Amino acid sequence: MLKHSCLRAPSVRHLQSHLHPRPTSILSHRGMVTLHHRELAHPVERSPHVGKAQAAQGSVDVAIHEDMERVLWSEDALKSRVKELGRQIAADYADKRPLVLGVLTGAFTFTADLVRGMEPCPAGTQVNFVRASSYGSSTESSGQPGLKVDLDLSTTKGRHVVLVEDIVDTGLTLTLLKAHLLQECQAASVSVVCLLDKAARRKVNIAPDYKGFDCPDFFIVGYGLDFNEYYRTLPYIGVLKPEMYK
Ligand code: IMP
Ligand code: MG
Repeated sequence: MLKHSCLRAPSVRHLQSHLHPRPTSILSHRGMVTLHHRELAHPVERSPHVGKAQAAQGSVDVAIHEDMERVLWSEDALKSRVKELGRQIAADYADKRPLVLGVLTGAFTFTADLVRGMEPCPAGTQVNFVRASSYGSSTESSGQPGLKVDLDLSTTKGRHVVLVEDIVDTGLTLTLLKAHLLQECQAASVSVVCLLDKAARRKVNIAPDYKGFDCPDFFIVGYGLDFNEYYRTLPYIGVLKPEMYK
């Protein structure tokens, strides 16, 4: 039985420093609501008990954090799908010296697992990261992703880039990043691998070249994905309980 208690209660002062002064828009599967920061049930204000629930995918029992409503993809399901993706990308890029670029922060776990799944690893493979942020402390995209691409032209020019995203939602982040890599960084090609595709929420016409799973329109956390920077360390992906937004 897996026990997971990643969230430890910090001091009151520490908690206060994380509260936001603005109302926060939340998109839950029950619709849009606007919350004030005092109403936010902060995950670390709750005791880090671990509950038991049936995983939605697969037939194993997993112990899940008590803030989670249910698991959508178990640790095992993620592991085997990511391995498959790694093998597929390794085969497609066998002679291309790929530059694998993870999109921080959400894709840090996925990127680490994906590159280790790239077997046999193409000669000349390199791994690096770029940073994008669009959510802040909300569950709704700001619509204006911030990008930080701190790569030297000599690293990217003429390279075949594999951009690794945790989830494609509106598609705005990837559209901006792809254009930047092709135009400013002079990449020879850019393909996109995303673990999850939330196609129902797309605002621009972009489709991943590789994807792990289609994702229903819930706000999800775990395996790198966060809510207000929490829950990234969960080894599975699941839906937060609605009361965590209320
Ligand atoms: P996009 O620009 O709207 O496609 O935003 C993509 C980014 O938003 C992803 O890389 C994630 O970091 C974040 N994101 C989108 N949906 C979720 C979610 O359900 N949970 C956590 N983060 C999300
Ligand atoms: Mg992301």
